[in-house]
Amino acid sequence: MEPVIVWYLRMSVIYFVAGVAVGLGMLLWPSEAGYYLPVHVHLNLLGFMSMMIYGVGYHILPKFSGRHIYSPQIVKVQFWLANAGLIGMAISWPFHVRGDIPIVYTALILSSVISCIAIFLFAINIVKTVKSI
Ligand code: HEM
Ligand code: HEM
Repeated sequence: MEPVIVWYLRMSVIYFVAGVAVGLGMLLWPSEAGYYLPVHVHLNLLGFMSMMIYGVGYHILPKFSGRHIYSPQIVKVQFWLANAGLIGMAISWPFHVRGDIPIVYTALILSSVISCIAIFLFAINIVKTVKSI
């Protein structure tokens, strides 16, 4: 397995542990839960689930379609963007919910855009890899 794919899987389980820990914290400190709900949801769904799908998808889909991955470079760039974007979102989101601070909002928007770019890169790379012609 390519080292970068192993890293997608590693980061996925790290986000899983972090995501459920935040969920547990929300149960233990209900008055704080509202601030951390978006962090919990996105660590689990954009971190654990999506990162797992990126890693497994990049490993399996080229084999299923009998092709090489369209761009191994995109696989690496996307890894850094997906992690930077998600970590930025997870850090800035609770501060943003607590108070409308312009610099925090800018950080949240920037990290969200970075996360979206990572998703678009994944979409392009997978579609170009499995195309039938
Ligand atoms: C030990 C594991 C977990 C705990 C203790 C936990 C805890 C919580 C809590 C306290 C809430 C807020 C519920 C509310 O008051 O509205 C919540 C919401 C949510 N959790 Fe978890 N969670 C866990 C695992 C997961 C996992 C693994 C996922 C996804 C893969 C997940 C996805 C969600 C989503 C999407 C919501 C928002 C639901 C909505 O929109 O109302 N959770 N969780
Ligand atoms: C670039 C990536 C993403 C961005 C910028 C984003 C942004 C948002 C925003 C702004 C909200 C509303 C939060 C609020 O209530 O104030 C939200 C909620 C939610 N998102 Fe995302 N999202 C992203 C990716 C995803 C993905 C990939 C999933 C699932 C696979 C997901 C699942 C959810 C769910 C379940 C909620 C509802 C949580 C709740 O009950 O408050 N998001 N997202």
